[in-house]
Amino acid sequence: MAYKVAVLPGDGIGPEVMDEALKVLGAVSRRFGLDFEYREAMVGGVAIDERGHAFPDETKEVCDWSQAILFGAVGGPKWEDLPPEEQPERAALLPLRKRYELYANLRPAVVFPPLISSSPLKEEILGKEGFDILVVRELTGGIYFGQPKGIFQEDGLRKGVDTLVYYDWEVERIARVAFDAAMRRGRRLASIDKANVLTAMVLWRDVVREVAKDYPQVELEHLLVDNAAMQLIRDPRRFDVILAGNMFGDILSDEAAMLTGSIGMLPSASLGDDKGLYEPVHGSAPDIAGQGVANPLAMILSAAMMLRYSFNEEEAARTVEEAVVSVLEDGYRTGDLYRGEGKLVKTKEMGALVAERVAAER
Ligand code: IPM
Ligand code: MG
Repeated sequence: MAYKVAVLPGDGIGPEVMDEALKVLGAVSRRFGLDFEYREAMVGGVAIDERGHAFPDETKEVCDWSQAILFGAVGGPKWEDLPPEEQPERAALLPLRKRYELYANLRPAVVFPPLISSSPLKEEILGKEGFDILVVRELTGGIYFGQPKGIFQEDGLRKGVDTLVYYDWEVERIARVAFDAAMRRGRRLASIDKANVLTAMVLWRDVVREVAKDYPQVELEHLLVDNAAMQLIRDPRRFDVILAGNMFGDILSDEAAMLTGSIGMLPSASLGDDKGLYEPVHGSAPDIAGQGVANPLAMILSAAMMLRYSFNEEEAARTVEEAVVSVLEDGYRTGDLYRGEGKLVKTKEMGALVAERVAAER
């Protein structure tokens, strides 16, 4: 049976990097004898232009059909003046997450050893190896979705309201994802909250503590979010898995991504119980769109995460990840990574290099 994949290239550099991920998946398919069935659909600004909505019905149908969604990027200056709730990011991403209950957002922030000099952190903080952090962010609850929400009139004044809500089961299921991930990695988990001020976060901390009883081998710490933001810069190597709610995870995952120095390298997975969405962290980069110079590696690594989490093809996933590292070790760099040394390549060459190495028998 073929693996069913919805392909949503989106806007900006999305289509360019998607082409390269599909190229690499082609090599995976030949090398490992896997079958993929792809259906492409419009999402984001391009869908607004063509269909009047960032997440049109036909795209919903394709996503409903799929087991996994490969998502490029959405948004750009052309759509920035639309009302906030119609903008590509909000009108496409949030409904996608909610429709498929993609509650577990995995955002690895890894310093690739060949790129260690790209990190803005000093050598003495990074050490020789850099760091390898997995941010596990709750993605379908918290202040993003809590009700009431809106701008209301009250005694002639306008009142803007968002509501931070977490149910115990929402915290429990994301905590289990984080503990399970910690068991497969360094067995350390930092749970982020603001339990000194926010009541919903008192519950968060309680539930995480309860779940921890099932994972006695994992060393758990609770950090307040402001402190966590400092510790990430002071000593990122102390972190293994970071567990956070929707908003704190949004913020801390950007901070961790920046600390790696190469946001063009970072993939992500958003997992529900029966579907996954895979997306590079970098966004649509309208400034370089259409020039063929974008770094496709985050999209390619997102496809590797799809192989791992949606299709349980661990060997294929690892082969793609190793091919990426080997291309970097040989000095190939797209513009975003290029520091005057090594070989400057464009999007298509980078994709071809990774695909070649995936295809090669080793
Ligand atoms: C992200 C983005 C989104 C979020 C925005 C675009 C809605 O920042 O995926 O991190 O806040 O979740
Ligand atoms: Mg964000």
